[in-house]
Amino acid sequence: MVAHRESGRQKAVDLFRKTFGSEPSVIVEAPGRINIIGEHTDYNDGFVLPIAIDRWLFVAAKGASTDRVHIYAADFDEADLFSIREIVRKEEGDWRNYARGVAAQLKEEGVELKGLQALIVSQIAIGAGLSSSAALEAALALAFLEVSDRSLDPLRLALLCQRAEHQFAGVHCGIMDQMATLLSLTGHALLIDCQSLTTQQVPLPDQVTFLVADTGKPRALAASEYNIRRSQCQEAVQHLSQLLGKPLRSLRYVSLEDINRHFFDLPDPVGRRARHVVTENQRVLDFVSALKANDLKLAGSLLLQSHQSLRDDYEVSCPELDAMVEAIMSCDGAYGARLTGAGFGGACITMVDATKAPTVQEESLTRYRNRLRSSPYQPHTFLVRPVGGASVVRLSET
Ligand code: GLA
Repeated sequence: MVAHRESGRQKAVDLFRKTFGSEPSVIVEAPGRINIIGEHTDYNDGFVLPIAIDRWLFVAAKGASTDRVHIYAADFDEADLFSIREIVRKEEGDWRNYARGVAAQLKEEGVELKGLQALIVSQIAIGAGLSSSAALEAALALAFLEVSDRSLDPLRLALLCQRAEHQFAGVHCGIMDQMATLLSLTGHALLIDCQSLTTQQVPLPDQVTFLVADTGKPRALAASEYNIRRSQCQEAVQHLSQLLGKPLRSLRYVSLEDINRHFFDLPDPVGRRARHVVTENQRVLDFVSALKANDLKLAGSLLLQSHQSLRDDYEVSCPELDAMVEAIMSCDGAYGARLTGAGFGGACITMVDATKAPTVQEESLTRYRNRLRSSPYQPHTFLVRPVGGASVVRLSET
């Protein structure tokens, strides 16, 4: 796995040389993430439990003597050029808006930005729900800071990247992905309380490992449906504030008892959306307790319940994700599986017995293909390790 990371780093350096004809001064490496449990809870002030995974996005960079920013995205064979004096959002809404967004937000934060040359190359599948965009934001933000001789604490940086995504990419995401890529610790999951933004590093037992099963289905509608879910949650907060006779800031302040009592007073689908969020928050806490008690069976069943709730109440699954979860759960050694990330396509994660992981990995793919013979998308599976958050390698010092 080390070779995997080193080869990515080397590729970034080589491509930088080829593109810009000089040596980069820094490499930033930001990992992708999977979310173990706590889906669509972050923007509701709830709990999430992601891990950063051993797939990285690399940015090789070097400061420029002018105010010009020149970024080349090797995977797309596309470039972006802009001046740090005038940063505008691009209407087309592609990867360039992440770059421009973080630069604009860093300026707003008072950072005196310098121009740069940067090359991006990534090992994180795009559109699989593995958070390639947060890795891109974090890596570029760190590269800008590095060449501008500035630093920011990781939480502040995560919030800044989130604002970039809201304002430039138009996705009103929560804070999970940016915090996961910046604050994770090797061998641990990151429990985030998205209301207080406090974190706890949760050690993962050696007996289990995580399998990612990417359905290959692009996350169609993810951005628009995501924003719709977000406003449905707001609507639920307004109804529940009235029903409970107290102003609520978010669904975090709604108990299981409240939601059960008032479920039928809420319009559909708003009630189901709220029920997912409230029950999911509880599942995150129960999952962490189950891990601590080494009750892997219980932990696995909570993953499955989470998937069912996302499928039936939150309605962000799709036939491919459901078939993948079923295929995986029919294999011996799988404790629990669920969709990860926003949904509507992308990947599932499975908590699997470490000794049986290679068999589950192979077997689940065969069973999935047998179930979904007509699917035009190419699925693939891979095992991941929990790694630490984004890091900066200064090449002149190595
Ligand atoms: C996307 C968002 C996150 C989170 C998940 C759903 O990944 O970027 O903030 O809301 O969806 O849990």
